[in-house]
Amino acid sequence: MKLLITGGAGFIGSNFIKYLFKKYNDVNVINLDVLNYSGREENLEEINGNPNYRFVRGDICDVDKLEEIIGNFDIIVNFAAETHVDRSVTGPLKFINPNIMGVTKLLEFSRKKKANLFIQISTDEVYGDIINGFANEKSILSPNNPYAASKAAAEMMVKSYIKTYKVPAIITRSCNNYGPNQYPEKIIPFFIIQALNNKNLPLHGDGSHIRDWLFVQDNCEAIDLIINKGKIMETYNIARNDERTNLEIAKCLLNKLGKPLDLINLVEDRPWNDIRYAVDVSKVRELGWKPKYDFNNGIDITLDWYKSHKSEMERLLKLDSRHPMINYMGWL
Ligand SMILES: NC(=O)c1ccc[n+]([C@@H]2O[C@H](COP(=O)([O-])OP(=O)(O)OC[C@H]3O[C@@H](n4cnc5c(N)ncnc54)[C@H](O)[C@@H]3O)[C@@H](O)[C@H]2O)c1
Repeated sequence: MKLLITGGAGFIGSNFIKYLFKKYNDVNVINLDVLNYSGREENLEEINGNPNYRFVRGDICDVDKLEEIIGNFDIIVNFAAETHVDRSVTGPLKFINPNIMGVTKLLEFSRKKKANLFIQISTDEVYGDIINGFANEKSILSPNNPYAASKAAAEMMVKSYIKTYKVPAIITRSCNNYGPNQYPEKIIPFFIIQALNNKNLPLHGDGSHIRDWLFVQDNCEAIDLIINKGKIMETYNIARNDERTNLEIAKCLLNKLGKPLDLINLVEDRPWNDIRYAVDVSKVRELGWKPKYDFNNGIDITLDWYKSHKSEMERLLKLDSRHPMINYMGWL
């Protein structure tokens, strides 16, 4: 199996590459990543030097120009994207190129190279707020922020390439992931680093927003299963159906770290904040997928990783302190 993985130096992509090398002896991976602020080659330290792994620094928008360097492959798995909702609110235009144009360039590349499969990694955020019940793969897309809208637009391009050019593609829509290697701007790693430094955990509104949390390894397994058993041209939701409020997350982290709950600092809510995401996962379950990690196990592994990478993560946050969003959110 020879894969072109894009955005493989980021959080989920790097975990997916490591997962593949642990599981398969005969896997071959080309990782194309532009290394924006959230992409780190260090995320793949243990794979570097493996003769079946090759890193190419480059932008998915330039994939046609990189054809020779990339070489041949059977499957494209596209993780590459600008991924932070808050950044999309302060700078929506930055999301258009990677998240929409980049995906279209990759689809064109996939068509030209006659790839066997194109996997587009999308998100449950494309459904927008799900106040009651669960969104299934046929539910209407109703994104509420520029990040989610850009991911929904990318999905439309994927679907158009499936219909128009018969590009064999599958879309996955997963819920919030957590685990090692996540850039510390997202709620779980950010709160861990803040708590380790006895600093405030800024919680939006009253902390009642609900997200569904999945340990990243379980998402990697689901993506692998979908590559091998998924039906071409289909879309699969991926989630653990483990709904928790942001307040519960903050309390759980503080309790596990032995820190006082008064570190929680309620700050003004984001006006665009969706109240709840929740997806029906019967379709991926029918393929035989079952998450292995419960929140307790997954969080313990995550906490251990951030404790042992604390100074590195702090350095990244300091570098980022010039970003307007950081002040906007009351961070640091
Ligand atoms: N993290 C989550 O909870 C979650 C949930 C659902 C879906 N997703 C989706 O999964 C994918 C990966 O998310 P993540 O959390 O790992 O994000 P991340 O921000 O950690 O990683 C994104 C990676 O893409 C790279 N990248 C960005 N623009 C690029 C470009 N133009 N060309 C090449 N590389 C580029 C970055 O350098 C980085 O390594 C994204 O498509 C995201 O929308 C994430």
